[in-house]
Amino acid sequence: MSAEQDRVLRVEHVSKRLSGKLILDDCSLDVRRGELMVLIGPSGAGKSTLLQCIDCLIPPDTGEIWLEGERLERDDKRKLCAFRAQVGMIFQDFNLFDHLTAEENVAIALRKVRGMSRKEARERALDELARVGLARRALLYPAQLSGGQKQRVAIARALAMDPKVMLLDEPTSALDPELVGEVLAVIRDLAAGGMTMVMATHQMDFARALATEILFMERGRIIERGSPAQLLADGAGTRTHDFCVRILEVSL
Ligand SMILES: Nc1ncnc2c1ncn2[C@@H]1O[C@H](COP(=O)(O)OP(=O)(O)OP(=O)(O)O)[C@@H](O)[C@H]1O
Ligand SMILES: [Mg+2]
Repeated sequence: MSAEQDRVLRVEHVSKRLSGKLILDDCSLDVRRGELMVLIGPSGAGKSTLLQCIDCLIPPDTGEIWLEGERLERDDKRKLCAFRAQVGMIFQDFNLFDHLTAEENVAIALRKVRGMSRKEARERALDELARVGLARRALLYPAQLSGGQKQRVAIARALAMDPKVMLLDEPTSALDPELVGEVLAVIRDLAAGGMTMVMATHQMDFARALATEILFMERGRIIERGSPAQLLADGAGTRTHDFCVRILEVSL
């Protein structure tokens, strides 16, 4: 496979102003197949805005997004929907439908977007719930699930759409500490299975162990990028390393 074909997501020179303030300033990134790119940086750095600009939930002011070599034409509603159907988005607060069971939360897009029959969608939903360890919780409503289980339903829902890339915005930061591990374990399995992902997180041990590349953001800019070994080694002298030391101190 050529380097170009190997590139799943390409973000070029994305900038965004909100309420007159420059929130993203010329952000570019390339994600290759099977990579887990981790975005880190202080609160307000622009990580969520960048992920939402990639998915065009917040349309960027300038810049281009490419998925598997195809440039996204944001003004074409049909193309934008087709693009979104191929990008799995995971939010901090799960974004499940409270009036639908876990299974229905996963099945609904399969029926509405993929046009599957009720039966087909149900079978696929159950497969995806089993993949995240929730086969026995399929008939429960979000209110009957723990935060970790809710986030795993959200991941199953994204997986059901066969995404080419998944964007995860601090998927564990709304969880009680004892539930973080079960969600990270699912993400670790996805990485091991070759899923391409971009994830904003403050879970530094996870990033150190699993990120193929770390991007450090500050004030809307990507100011450092490299492997965990390059950015996080003791004595690396990087902003990324300083930031990690500071957040570890806070959590002690
Ligand atoms: N609609 C908006 N109007 C004006 N400013 C906004 C808007 N949405 C976000 N911002 C600002 O954009 C900046 C980046 O926010 P963003 O949520 O992307 O940061 P973040 O890196 O995800 O932070 P956190 O770690 O707290 O999640 C912040 O200064 C925020 O106040
Ligand atoms: Mg955020």
